[in-house]
Amino acid sequence: MRVSWGLLAFPAAVSAIENGINGWLRYAPLPNDQRPPNLLLPGAIMALSTNKTSPVYTAGQELQAGIKSILNQTLPLYHEPDKWLGSTILVATTGQFHGVKPAATLADDGYLLRVRPGNVVILGQTERGALYGAFDYLSRIAQGRFSDADLIANPDAPIRWVNQWDNMDGSIERGYAGASIFFRNNTIPKDLNRVSQYARLLASIGINGIVVNNVNANANLLTDANIDGLGRIADAMRPYGVQIGISLNFVSPQTLGGLLTFDPLDQSVISWWTDKTNCLYRRIPDMAGYLVKANSEGQAGPLTYNRTLADGANLFAKAVQPHGGIVMFRAFVYDNHINPADLKADRAKHAVEFFKGLDGQFLDNVVVQIKYGPIDFQVREPASPLFANIPQTNTAIELQITQEYLGQQSHLVYIAPLWKTILDFDLRADDQPSLVRDVVAGRRFSNKRGGYAGVVNVGTNTTWLGSHLAMSNLYAYGRLAWDPNQDPQALLEDWTRLTFGSDPLVLGVVTEISMASWPAYENYTGNLGIQTLTDILYTHYGPNPASQDNNGWGQWTRADHDGIGMDRTVSTGTGFSGQYPAEVAEKFESIETTPDDLLLWFHHVNYTHVLKSGKSVIQHFYDAHYAGAETAQTFPIAWESLRNKIDTERFNDVLFRLRYQAGHSIVWRDSICQFYYNLSGIPDGTGRVGRHEYRIEAETMALKNYKLTGVNPVETASNLTAVVLVSNHTSGEATTKLNFDSGKYDVAINYFDLIGGKAHYKAFLNGKLLLKWAGDLEDKLGHTFSTKLDGHSATRVTIRDIQIQKGDVLKITGVAEGNELAPLDYIAVLPQGVVD
Ligand code: GCU
Repeated sequence: MRVSWGLLAFPAAVSAIENGINGWLRYAPLPNDQRPPNLLLPGAIMALSTNKTSPVYTAGQELQAGIKSILNQTLPLYHEPDKWLGSTILVATTGQFHGVKPAATLADDGYLLRVRPGNVVILGQTERGALYGAFDYLSRIAQGRFSDADLIANPDAPIRWVNQWDNMDGSIERGYAGASIFFRNNTIPKDLNRVSQYARLLASIGINGIVVNNVNANANLLTDANIDGLGRIADAMRPYGVQIGISLNFVSPQTLGGLLTFDPLDQSVISWWTDKTNCLYRRIPDMAGYLVKANSEGQAGPLTYNRTLADGANLFAKAVQPHGGIVMFRAFVYDNHINPADLKADRAKHAVEFFKGLDGQFLDNVVVQIKYGPIDFQVREPASPLFANIPQTNTAIELQITQEYLGQQSHLVYIAPLWKTILDFDLRADDQPSLVRDVVAGRRFSNKRGGYAGVVNVGTNTTWLGSHLAMSNLYAYGRLAWDPNQDPQALLEDWTRLTFGSDPLVLGVVTEISMASWPAYENYTGNLGIQTLTDILYTHYGPNPASQDNNGWGQWTRADHDGIGMDRTVSTGTGFSGQYPAEVAEKFESIETTPDDLLLWFHHVNYTHVLKSGKSVIQHFYDAHYAGAETAQTFPIAWESLRNKIDTERFNDVLFRLRYQAGHSIVWRDSICQFYYNLSGIPDGTGRVGRHEYRIEAETMALKNYKLTGVNPVETASNLTAVVLVSNHTSGEATTKLNFDSGKYDVAINYFDLIGGKAHYKAFLNGKLLLKWAGDLEDKLGHTFSTKLDGHSATRVTIRDIQIQKGDVLKITGVAEGNELAPLDYIAVLPQGVVD
């Protein structure tokens, strides 16, 4: 039996309820005009496994469901060859089926996909390779990109993992999408349906391993009951070929095991870990291995006993070795109490200092997991020099999908272009091409293992990451880990077609705003390599440049009245640039050859220093912040053009976030510009900074029951002052006359939205209600920012297209609730097209 795709006719539509739960695996019905005529679908699916936990079996089910949903065609599914003799979509491993010989060698997890009219062959080198081939085939159908195919796809690196930073109490460190799907109340919940669904998403992008608990690990994970729970998690993920690993707490032998020591060379400690490991493998025979954070951020580790980090890593490596497991040992080892007065001190140097001398001492099932930059997931960093310093050691790169320093899923930031700058960076080890991606694939230094670890932190929110658009980051991460040669924009377009359909307008808008988002975010947060400039002592979200300096964390900017930037040169600074191989070291050593976008990472210069662009550093700061915020204003406008092209639920959710981002980008812009203006005393050459002709400060309005307040940091309120209600049991008013020329305006109201209360606001024009809203961003954005008035909680609402006559009266009323004293900062009455 053969079915012609061209004969089928279904409505072109997106389903009405789209809550994001299926991510890019929605399998939306394909519109008629995207179905090629005369393409033949085989008569059945033959997935050669009767074992329900096999990814080959899963592949059969996925193909059946996907084809049904996309093409409304039900193909029978068989698992035994003699049950069907007609044409098939055949899924199997190369070991099972010899009818088609791959033209090139298949690597571990690789697959062959051969599509012919009426005949499809999907062969995996492993069982999960077969599943990856099935997902690839379905992705082509779902995007309406049918063509005969004959391809061999091999992963670039064997380790393609994600890390969850889930705590056992159900909270998630740096998670912005609700509670954990893995843990609740210090145990593993019974219902692991979301865990299976997550494994399905991961498998579809080639992810083969997941560490399910936080790197800041809890020893209680290793109780018998929890080991059984972990076993159930592994069971839920196994049909998708996703192997689980766990993070370990180095001190466990003492805290959980009751031993007097956790010295990695002590025999009782070795036995304790060996027993635990054996116990874990009894329940989870295919456990991928361990992830270890030790001697980092105040945690204990092997150095506590004057043992080396290699001693620590090898302890676990020996325990998992008989079971085929590996140990991911994190290179995020640094001292967080360094002396800011010491001009030679530099946290960025620590990883190389700790690890370089250990090269060659790690067992071969240890992989050193290195964050992409030497500090911590900043908006821009140079590639970590450690990638070039331990050639005899397996390495993996750690990327962060959860947007800890990148807007926490409340700002759209498509991160794949940032990752690409690192993966494509040539470290020139021994003056030879040494791209980071070749190092972590094991190619450059002939290492056996290596690859990728992405910190994801999905939660119970149906969108997984808390924002529909943020899912492009997870998708692109998996695809890049599989093949880092791919173009981030092409990956984004695949994701968009799968997530929102192939309408050219939708594709155009999502591509345009996503591709503009990282440059815009860098512009309005921290540019020229100065880091994100967020509050590093609190929630890592809003602006607070002063928090970078004068503390032991070492994320210093060294900004003072005259200049800014860390001198990391060998000649006059910390010597960090000398950690790179000679060619790269030389380039970063000199201001002339350091690219502008990393200038302040490597050099301390005066604000008046002239960049390659011809602008001074300070003017670049001002201009970039204005440009970045201006770009962010275009995002919601572009998105609005997609009304009726996207289901209402996702359309509205994304619109709300993009509007929020547009407002918060102005908070960022103004805070950073004001901060550096205050510090340097150098005015903006174009006169924008500190001059806001369309603003009316709340403190200048006629106030009833409101009082003036400062905020911290001061520059996060316009004119350094805000107002709050006099008590939390009251309501109040702020009133002003509008002395602007009569005309049409957008009225923006800046206020603060705190954790711990939902104040109620109303805005009236001449007594007529314009808008009412609540300080409930914690619900709407799905996570909390701050309990204080600061750059995290500062936000704005905008009322569009209001006809105003000169002399009209604008009144805002606020009703306190809980902690939230209906704080107000200012209103901006903006003529059409003005951003301020
Ligand atoms: C960052 C992050 C922490 C995390 C740490 C790590 O510092 O803010 O939450 O624990 O990185 O990667 O270990």
